[in-house]
Amino acid sequence: MPHNPACLSIGQYAVPNRLFVAPMAGVTDRPFRQLCRQFGAGYAVSEMVTSRPDLWHTLKTSRRADHTGEPGPIAVQIAGTDPPMMAEAAAYNIDRGAQIIDINMGCPAKKVCNKWAGSALMRDQALALSIVDAVVAVCAPRKVPVTLKMRTGWCDASRNAVTLARAAESAGVAMITVHGRTREQGYRGAAEYETIAAVKAAVTVPVVANGDITSPAKARAVLAATGADALMIGRAAQGAPWIFREIAHYLDTGETLAPPLVAEVRRALLAHLQAHYGLYGEYSGVRSARKHIGWYVRQWPGGDVLRQHINTVDEAPAQWQAVSDYFDQLADRFDRLPAPGPDGLADAAADNSVEHAS
Ligand SMILES: Cc1cc2nc3c(=O)[nH]c(=O)nc-3n(C[C@H](O)[C@H](O)[C@H](O)COP(=O)(O)O)c2cc1C
Repeated sequence: MPHNPACLSIGQYAVPNRLFVAPMAGVTDRPFRQLCRQFGAGYAVSEMVTSRPDLWHTLKTSRRADHTGEPGPIAVQIAGTDPPMMAEAAAYNIDRGAQIIDINMGCPAKKVCNKWAGSALMRDQALALSIVDAVVAVCAPRKVPVTLKMRTGWCDASRNAVTLARAAESAGVAMITVHGRTREQGYRGAAEYETIAAVKAAVTVPVVANGDITSPAKARAVLAATGADALMIGRAAQGAPWIFREIAHYLDTGETLAPPLVAEVRRALLAHLQAHYGLYGEYSGVRSARKHIGWYVRQWPGGDVLRQHINTVDEAPAQWQAVSDYFDQLADRFDRLPAPGPDGLADAAADNSVEHAS
């Protein structure tokens, strides 16, 4: 499929291109989503929000539901196992600005709402569909499209993505994203794309392919293998949000875009840090920014030294200055970012999968 930027819609919302940033809890907060959009992502789903009303007023959930200044459509992902609670969560988020509600049936985390939720729902199709029905019932009258993010199935012997996708489409779901792994796989092994292709062939709503898209060439291969309407990129965007424009350029022209200018990355990362401190405050912000800084610099000269130093710094101005100084030194040596090794991004994805195997 050619990369046609102009013709994907989710319900009534036109999306500017077919490259989406994946929802990643603890990563794709508003500052990071905005950064990815700035570098060419056409669509971003928020980190999942619990369906438990008693947690909606926690700092964590209210930060996740903060969409100030974010371009639309605002898509909020909800997770849970109880259909009425999921419906209530959808209504609550719509009242706070959500324009699209995404149901999480893709996350392998064991404990969502103290129960098996996320991709565990793929094992209980009747419950999964009750959730879809309940959420669509509150969203449809408000003209809010409902989307679904799932895996290929519960386990190797039960790849029910096609059956579930068909049923979800009949129930009114407007787009389906499939991560090419089973629940049982977690993040192990390689994503497979045959099941995503089968889902694409089985439904008429847009289908988004996800899993292990780590380079422009891989993006093209996944589009060819699945016929998907869009691609969703998660771990490969950590520390490299410009991957979206690199993929877009490659899909459009067949040519590899030059790595970004060091000066541009410096500006973007320092602005990201400011936005990050703004959302989390200094104490939490400095600590949670460490992982982003580590992801950025892991593949560049001197990155390890900066990473070690950053772990000892507890104040925002000092952290910001250390990053700024690092980039000044990098700019003395390079105009553009040194290209990562052939497996650089793939290795990075593998590293992170271990962290998230919760
Ligand atoms: C740190 C982390 C957090 C994640 N959180 C969520 C989440 O909140 N909701 C969800 O549907 N998937 C979540 N995922 C799964 C991703 O959206 C995506 O499906 C998965 O990482 C595969 O794509 P990738 O190979 O491009 O990373 C998370 C993944 C990671 C690594």
